[in-house]
Amino acid sequence: MTKKETKKPVTLAGLQRKKSSGEKITMLTAYDYSMAKMLDDSGLDIVLVGDSLGMVVLGYDSTVPVTMEEMIHHCKAVRRGVSRALLVGDMPYLSYQVSKKEAVRNAGRFFKEAGCQCVKLEGGSNMASTIERIVRAGIPVMGHIGLTPQTVTALGGYRIQGRDPESAKRLLKDAKAVADAGAFSLVLECIPSALAKTITETIPIPTIGIGSGPHCDGQVLVTNDLLGLFEKFLPNFVKRYVNLAPMIKEALASYIDEVEKGIFPGTEYSPRP
Ligand code: KIV
Repeated sequence: MTKKETKKPVTLAGLQRKKSSGEKITMLTAYDYSMAKMLDDSGLDIVLVGDSLGMVVLGYDSTVPVTMEEMIHHCKAVRRGVSRALLVGDMPYLSYQVSKKEAVRNAGRFFKEAGCQCVKLEGGSNMASTIERIVRAGIPVMGHIGLTPQTVTALGGYRIQGRDPESAKRLLKDAKAVADAGAFSLVLECIPSALAKTITETIPIPTIGIGSGPHCDGQVLVTNDLLGLFEKFLPNFVKRYVNLAPMIKEALASYIDEVEKGIFPGTEYSPRP
């Protein structure tokens, strides 16, 4: 994949045009400057500082412990690497559920302090009025329904959502509520392909799928999964485009071996006399 020619910044209107024309939207996660810069240079549409940060970078067992301070810190680093893609900050658990006032204040921190252009939050009809308030404050919101990792315990674990007619109906209703509340796009995580297709054809805003089949307007993955950097587990919907962890370990073993044997640094990597 070569670097794209265009340097035009990605806009919400541009994403909407992609939905209308059937051109797919691309989104990946970043948590630091170096990776953000590579993603931005690659021609990707959207960079998400996901609260997956908690699992793949900070080593927590879930996304629940992630704090606002941790998110803001990493969003600032990613901001410095992104100049063209749309930058979305993921609102962590309990930063938007307690009250609408707190939700607007915290969304405002992503916007004002961290330089994110948009925020993402999890929830459907139950979050519609919160989304509306944040949007009214001038901050674009990306919704997220289906398997919502912040409330995975209440959902009964990491499993496909919306398999039975009743829950499929509920998810379609949630998708409409999020769109009606003014969200500019919607992540559909781990829902059946046919349901993702129905939602994508029903709501006017772009859908971004993860583990939800090919019919969404765009796709997102956790970058550390796609690159083989996170070894703890691999969801079955992830395609590993490269397996970097073993390559990194081999490089580290070579470094240790060369230092121990006095091979590195040789004259080439030492100060000239
Ligand atoms: O936290 C995250 O990285 C996400 C994406 C996988 C959608 O929510």
